[in-house]
Amino acid sequence: MRKWYKYSLNAGERGNIFAGLDEQYLEHAVSMGGYDTDKAYNSKSDFFNKYFFGYHLGRLQHYDEFIRSHLRKDEHILSTASGRCANELYLMEHGGYNITCSDLDISDEMYRETLKLFPQYKFNKLNILAAPAPQTYDAVLNLSMIYLLDDDKLRTFFKHVSQSLRPGGKLILDSSGSTDNYLSYLIHECLLKYEIVYLLRAKRLLTTARLEGVVTKHHGFRRTDREIIAAAGEFGLKLQDKNNYAFLVDFKRSYLLNKLIAASRPAEAIFTILGKYIPYIRMFCFYKT
Ligand SMILES: C[S@@+](CC[C@H](N)C(=O)[O-])C[C@H]1O[C@@H](n2cnc3c(N)ncnc32)[C@H](O)[C@@H]1O
Repeated sequence: MRKWYKYSLNAGERGNIFAGLDEQYLEHAVSMGGYDTDKAYNSKSDFFNKYFFGYHLGRLQHYDEFIRSHLRKDEHILSTASGRCANELYLMEHGGYNITCSDLDISDEMYRETLKLFPQYKFNKLNILAAPAPQTYDAVLNLSMIYLLDDDKLRTFFKHVSQSLRPGGKLILDSSGSTDNYLSYLIHECLLKYEIVYLLRAKRLLTTARLEGVVTKHHGFRRTDREIIAAAGEFGLKLQDKNNYAFLVDFKRSYLLNKLIAASRPAEAIFTILGKYIPYIRMFCFYKT
């Protein structure tokens, strides 16, 4: 396991800042670009066009593909850390899946607007680190959350998920970030950091005549497959299947590599091959023994 930092410019300010890990619901909401409602809540197609298709470089569509190939419509599914619930709503609307969404909290406005658009929407408040769900389910979904958890919290998470599943029930889990290896270290701790510290600061200095500081944000943790599988195994969750997706995402975070990939087909092909070592999305299907 390795701590995962993200770097950005301290817009308009000279000082450097360190920002800690998100813990409160509102901090998570800010990191997700806000959980406000907007014009996309006017119709189902507007909602899915904005928050499902192509969202975060197609992240949710990869989840959808894996979930559909591992869960059945007649199963009772609990989604944890659902956020805006776009994946869950798409599965319910276009597939008839029976999903109860949950998260640390939800704003009255988002609950009301979501229910207005999708009358079958079900939501409960659930802090999965504080307690298991009050009933057991055939399957639990957890998409893009475990990067927030240190090792102790990850164990608590698997314990509570296991307690929320019936025997034989499944956990569909997204690694929520690339693995911990030399290539991801080089990208995150060297390339992305020094692009901000030197290149993008210098670029901004030339265009605005201001020298800005750097924000170092503790974004979360990166883990290998083996670490995730071992932690799940401690609580009776055994790996049934796994698939990797999103091979270019980490490269595209880089200002320089993003330009190179956009400009050159051969570069895109090479980085797609290299990206097999750092898939941004690793989907796991565990079953409770
Ligand atoms: C990165 S967002 C992912 C949202 C959504 N699943 C998605 O893929 O777009 C992480 C979510 O985890 C939720 N979360 C963080 N800690 C949690 C906890 N202990 N229990 C339940 N949800 C939690 C946050 O509130 C946030 O909505």
